[in-house]
Amino acid sequence: MTRTVLVTGGTRGIGRAISEMMKNKGYQVAANYAGNQEAAEACAKELGIKCYKFDVADYDAVTEGLAAIEKDLGPVDILINNAGVTRDAPFHKMSREQWQQVIDIDLTSAFNCTRQVWEGMRERGFGRVINISSINGQKGQFGQANYSAAKAGLIGMTKALAQEGAKKGITVNVVAPGYIDTEMVQAVPEKVLEGIIASIPVGRLGKAEEIASMCAYLASDEAAFITGATMTVNGAQYIAG
Ligand code: CAA
Repeated sequence: MTRTVLVTGGTRGIGRAISEMMKNKGYQVAANYAGNQEAAEACAKELGIKCYKFDVADYDAVTEGLAAIEKDLGPVDILINNAGVTRDAPFHKMSREQWQQVIDIDLTSAFNCTRQVWEGMRERGFGRVINISSINGQKGQFGQANYSAAKAGLIGMTKALAQEGAKKGITVNVVAPGYIDTEMVQAVPEKVLEGIIASIPVGRLGKAEEIASMCAYLASDEAAFITGATMTVNGAQYIAG
């Protein structure tokens, strides 16, 4: 039976690379997106997968989105909570909106999506939940109190859910990317980015495919004993204990 994967924020950046790798591995892939229609159409056409527009920060919108996916592809067996945004500002300049948007889109989204596929995974006795966190949720980052909080929150949520899912065949893990060559990272001011690259021992930004391959492994049957783990993929920029 072909398993169904939902990748949130799955039409651009790291998410698109995950969608592509999972499709190439033979899964049925649903890629969610928020608003960039052009990127979603290109993704659907180039990868031959279905893309679904809904706001992962809105619980009811997720209910509708999941219903559409289930109708087309069946229930979600593998959920990759990848959708995320940055609203960087030093804390003394951070607005309530900048705080709330990042918490809603990067953290509450994982509740909204996971909660609504969780019971089905329990009933079927199989599930994979992969939460895309960040190096900056592990070490903190100047200008990212909101993002660091949300991404660290995903790690705590993962550790709790891993314990709840264990007896039901559900694994829950985190992938914590370092700085990956995507639009999000390219938006960092050039001078700042130069400094960041200089601090990566491997000497370059990561590639989106390097995150996708870790997700593909965690989704596989071979990874059944890995749960509650944080898989760091960052070129040794930060070595978490
Ligand atoms: N460490 C220490 N001090 C810093 C600093 C840092 N990393 N960055 C800036 N500062 C200092 C500046 O030197 C400056 O000091 P003075 O006032 O003494 O001159 C002060 O903070 C204010 O700096 P700015 O005028 O540049 O402040 P700003 O409001 O224009 O912007 C910022 C600040 C938004 C944090 C900007 O520096 C920035 O964008 N930094 C990048 C943050 C970052 O790494 N984001 C990651 C995005 S990619 C991502 O998130 C993906 C992922 O998962 C890895």
